Amino acid sequence: MCGIVGIVGHNPVAPLIVDALKRLEYRGYDSAGVATIEDGRLARRRAEGKLINLERKLAEEPLGGLIGIGHTRWATHGVPNEVNAHPHFSENVAIVHNGIIENFSELRAELVADGFVFASQTDTEVVAHLIARELMRGAAPKDAAFAALKRLQGAFALALLFRGDEDLIVGARNGPPLAIGHGEGEMYLGSDAIALAPFTEAITYLEDGDWTVVRRSGAEIFDMEGRTVQRQQQQSVGTSFLVDKGNHRHFMEKEIHEQPEVIAHTLAHYLDFTNGSVKPFETPFNFAEIDRLAISACGTAYLAGLIGKYWLERYARIPVDIDIASEFRYREMPLSNASAALFVSQSGETADTLASLRYCRAEGVPIASIVNVRDSTIARESDGIFPTLAGPEIGVASTKAFTCQLSIFASLAVRAGLERGTLTQDEARAMVRSLSEAPRYASQALRLEERIEKIARELSQVRHVLYLGRDTSYPLALEGALKLKEISYIHAEGYAAGELKHGPIALIDETMPVIVIAPHDRIFEKTVSNMQEVAARGGRIILITDEEGAAGAALDGAETIVMPTMPEFIAPIVYALPIQMLAYHTAVVMGTDVDQPRNLAKSVTVE
Ligand code: G6P
Repeated sequence: MCGIVGIVGHNPVAPLIVDALKRLEYRGYDSAGVATIEDGRLARRRAEGKLINLERKLAEEPLGGLIGIGHTRWATHGVPNEVNAHPHFSENVAIVHNGIIENFSELRAELVADGFVFASQTDTEVVAHLIARELMRGAAPKDAAFAALKRLQGAFALALLFRGDEDLIVGARNGPPLAIGHGEGEMYLGSDAIALAPFTEAITYLEDGDWTVVRRSGAEIFDMEGRTVQRQQQQSVGTSFLVDKGNHRHFMEKEIHEQPEVIAHTLAHYLDFTNGSVKPFETPFNFAEIDRLAISACGTAYLAGLIGKYWLERYARIPVDIDIASEFRYREMPLSNASAALFVSQSGETADTLASLRYCRAEGVPIASIVNVRDSTIARESDGIFPTLAGPEIGVASTKAFTCQLSIFASLAVRAGLERGTLTQDEARAMVRSLSEAPRYASQALRLEERIEKIARELSQVRHVLYLGRDTSYPLALEGALKLKEISYIHAEGYAAGELKHGPIALIDETMPVIVIAPHDRIFEKTVSNMQEVAARGGRIILITDEEGAAGAALDGAETIVMPTMPEFIAPIVYALPIQMLAYHTAVVMGTDVDQPRNLAKSVTVE
């Protein structure tokens, strides 16, 4: 999604802004721009495509100025070309914006009637003209901004620059995140602390409805009534890392390979491997006291929640409702006094997940969240969080955050099973011991890369792929299909293996590979029957299983990826790796932009 940066300082800001924008690239974007006040005038450079294009423009035509704003745009209203790229100007105002102004058509009509001419198709430009109109009517910049903000409906984080005041950036937040960075006589605005990491770790997060006046000397924050509000300044966590691929070709590759380590870190946060017990970490509700758990999330985080449902229901006997957050937020689900809610989000900023959280807040149920960004909005609005210790995830397609989310769900299943008396101490200890093996098996899975690369070369030749799995391998089938389509643009679908004969079997022919995820578990034989149905129709099978499964399947002509034999409980965590590697290598062969696939965003802050 769009990224925002603002700097008011002592040095030429354009290169600093581009530097900060690079740190926001991971969010996904399709054009970029920067504006400064140069020689008393608003000036800007914008470019379609990646930041390198903007850098080229800036090299040809440098931009001076000690105050400026910058933007990476993920198109919502209007195609991703230079004209629609931010910053947008109107008279003496420049604006960058993340979000969607929902009442933009009405405002646009009003402004057109007033004689304003629109240069772009964006919703953002209406805000620039609204403010310009206030300035023309004699308002001071700060008052003009406030008056315009009050007219806006929808989601926005924005930053404004005013010709005539080289010591002023106005920022505002309603929905997407916006942070103020505090420096020495230099101040910053950014979509997240990562963007501002090279400049400062002293951060103040704006809350919804806040707007701010940022000057070199500091920032004042106001609410929508215009009253001054105090927001705590904090030392941001985990931002001092370098956004660096190391020896890897892509962040995604690096993040896949980090999994043994980050799974281990995450598990060790919740489990005590020495004595096979669950640590007494804080939870916002007691699992023994709830009769229902509502889980809600988007994308890959949703699929982690789906596996969590299987585990929590099986081992802790808690009925779990799981919803895609964009559905949950509007479906008015009844929640009883004894319900609790759990949200899953890598970024902690996904708009639909946040809206679902707020629905549950209004319903008065206790709220927990599994988040990777600990100072994110979802984390801050939850009663308690279960942090994943994945470290920053930069590749748009989630990998290590997913397996860390699963590690937490597995730990919660053991904890909840003990609290609810559905697991004995011995059973729980055995499960913790199994989990302690997950990082080792994940390392072994990474050694299959060469074999997977070979299969990926074949996959890159096809147009459609079907993924099948049963039980916890069913959400993995969905995740496999999601990963493949996200980064290789090959059409893929995940199905519960048992559903095959209710539709997708009609698609089977020799041109469509069927990837079957089937560790040798309780229901392996059932999946084998489904594979036979595929084989009987000439389908090409790629089977991901263990040695026993490979021997048991006995299918002629099937490609097999043979995983280490492991306890059934931890299989979803480890089997995620070959699925990710398959998608990754297919995309590499196809030459797509693996870390920033077209049209996708890392942090989806609009609905
Ligand atoms: C986007 C990302 C996915 C991610 C989903 C949910 O679609 O590309 O990788 O799973 O958002 O994001 P969240 O930050 O809430 O986990």
